[in-house]
Amino acid sequence: MSQQDYIKICQDLLSQANQENDTKAEDLRVKYLGKNGLFKNLSALIKEVPNEQKKAFGQELNKTKSKIEEKLKEIEQQQKTTQAKIDLTLPGKKAKVGHLHPISQAIEEISQIFERIGFNRVRYPEVDFDYYVFEALNMPKNHPARDEWETFFIDTPAHEKMGKIVLTTHTSNGQVREMERLKSKPPIRMINVARTYRRQSDATHTQMFHQFEGLVVDKGINIQHLKGTLDYFAESFYGPGTKSRIRPFHFKFTEPSFEVDFSCHICGGTGKNCRFCKSGWHEVGGAGMVHPNVLRAGGIDPDVYTGFAFGWGVERTYTLKKGLNIDDIRLFYSGNLEFLEQF
Ligand code: PHE
Repeated sequence: MSQQDYIKICQDLLSQANQENDTKAEDLRVKYLGKNGLFKNLSALIKEVPNEQKKAFGQELNKTKSKIEEKLKEIEQQQKTTQAKIDLTLPGKKAKVGHLHPISQAIEEISQIFERIGFNRVRYPEVDFDYYVFEALNMPKNHPARDEWETFFIDTPAHEKMGKIVLTTHTSNGQVREMERLKSKPPIRMINVARTYRRQSDATHTQMFHQFEGLVVDKGINIQHLKGTLDYFAESFYGPGTKSRIRPFHFKFTEPSFEVDFSCHICGGTGKNCRFCKSGWHEVGGAGMVHPNVLRAGGIDPDVYTGFAFGWGVERTYTLKKGLNIDDIRLFYSGNLEFLEQF
């Protein structure tokens, strides 16, 4: 082997090493400098070189080895930094965006519907005196009508005039409070949305729920105004074509009193083969013309002014919306995110 030959072989190996780019650095090290690597094979050729050239070949080999070593280091370095780099082609991590609880959304929507026709949203205490919850609403102490309300009482001494403190069983406690706030001067157009509490718990009742209460007091207010307001709400909340219906009922604080139904959006109010409503209608709550005694309790002369009131549960009203199909309202308060994230 001549001098040109071994110099060429050394250079060939080096240029081969210099062209490496996609193999892993560890594998390249084995391939070139490993025990059975290419460099080892090359140096074995020294046996075939005439004695007087052995030194020069040895030097050539050393040079080649250190150049290969340099190249490998460079590749190692390069691969380390690309690994640490962010891969911009990966899909990004989505930041979780929260939203209002479905019942808060419903409250917003309900409030806005009434605000559009001049109702004024207010909030009154959710823990209130017996006086506002019952007595001022024409339910004197010991009146049997109170038993219907499944009341939670707060264990404190009763106030001399206002009586015991209770968790509000309905938002009707806002009626006389609103009359007082407005210094007994109609017009009144109130929408009171608040938490309410009753001793009850099953698929359609939770101990804590929400109600919204409408109260309108002015000169010449009659049942047509009530019915018109209910129809307006039905169409606004459930969609065009939804109707309201009032049926005779009894509340101590309204006279006459009604139960309010809305037509079923699934069967369009026909009730034919409808598993959702059976009759074409869904009962939602109570309403009526404000009882003269309630107006009196609020300092308003019932010979001059009349009014209507209505009130019912937000949860129930909301679950009757198209496409919701929620058969257990306790789910709203279960803290189950899988359920809540759907809204
Ligand atoms: N407060 C009654 C209830 O909770 C509903 C109602 C409100 C009835 C206003 C008449 C007038 O059932």
